Amino acid sequence: MNKITAAITAVGGYVPEYRLTNAELEKMVETNDEWIRTRTGIEERRILKEEGKATSDLCIPAVEEILRKKNLDPKEIDCIICATVTPDMVFPATANIVAYKVGATNAFSYDLGAACSGFLYALSTGAAYIESGRYKKVIVIGADKMSAIIDYTDRATCIIFGDGAGAVLLEPNSEGYGVKDSILRSDGSGKDFLHMKAGGSLKPASIETVTAKEHYVYQEGKTVFKFAVVGMAEVSAEIMERNNLGADDIAWLVPHQANLRIIDATASRMNLSKDKVMINIQKYGNTTAGTLPLCLWDWEKQLKKGDNLILAAFGGGFTWGACWVKWAYDGK
Ligand code: UT7
Repeated sequence: MNKITAAITAVGGYVPEYRLTNAELEKMVETNDEWIRTRTGIEERRILKEEGKATSDLCIPAVEEILRKKNLDPKEIDCIICATVTPDMVFPATANIVAYKVGATNAFSYDLGAACSGFLYALSTGAAYIESGRYKKVIVIGADKMSAIIDYTDRATCIIFGDGAGAVLLEPNSEGYGVKDSILRSDGSGKDFLHMKAGGSLKPASIETVTAKEHYVYQEGKTVFKFAVVGMAEVSAEIMERNNLGADDIAWLVPHQANLRIIDATASRMNLSKDKVMINIQKYGNTTAGTLPLCLWDWEKQLKKGDNLILAAFGGGFTWGACWVKWAYDGK
């Protein structure tokens, strides 16, 4: 009997309507379009502006797109995993809210936190459920409403992040398509360079923490950049080497969209030409757990059955990793 692999059989995505452009940011903080473009590659990001809307409101349309495309009864879904650092509430899990609202009444659901690497971690976890033979339909979501935790007076962070969600459906495959291998890493000593200071059990919310703006993303960009460049490039090269994949074997690099310079360094370490790299950072910015599935969403029509994809990410924790996926269907 052939080994069961977890194939991605559908992709859904959602970004809010509102576009926060570099020109608009120029009016909010001391920055300029030229600096943002050359240092990051970002031109605009999407922001969920409506009052009372949260990360689950980004996830639901992405999951509903999958249900529509596959003509799938939500009751058939076994599990929903939502990778996010901006859950609707600390608890219950955003995935519980999504499952309830899409009618996935037979699914168990939970959130997974690995910051920018969250989707990779969740994909690997979801794939293991399928490979075990116990579950047949797992939805993996990467979603963040980063605008909820960004200080729009801090030019070092507010230019980078945006809101968005992407989701994939995983189903068993016996022909070798799907998640073939993954390497996941973490190093908690990186916490000092990228974190949110308050709102957790270490420093619960108080008038003081709010006044000190400690519920926003804190990032020492230069340090994170140095670790990210090395981490993402090395793990991508490692997954290729251990699977005997050369640059010619790879159809696409699907990189976390944190900074165009980090993406370029990863592609260069893999000896990949730029036309094989998914880049949408210019229009969405860094949507944290949303970046990888939003790339798959944007490129789905161009993907062909048998394409080898390397997904790679680096983020808060530090967490990082790479995943080799053999694409299971023709986009058209
Ligand atoms: O996704 C999760 C993981 N995160 C990442 O991978 C992010 C990694 N880091 C980065 O992408 C980059 O470090 C940033 C884009 C955040 C910053 O770029 P940088 O090239 O590392 O800039 P920097 O922080 O070293 O700042 C260089 C200069 C500084 O001025 P001085 O001290 O040289 O006079 C900053 O104050 O640029 C200044 N600066 C800005 N200038 C205009 C910082 N932010 C801005 C800004 N506009 N928005």
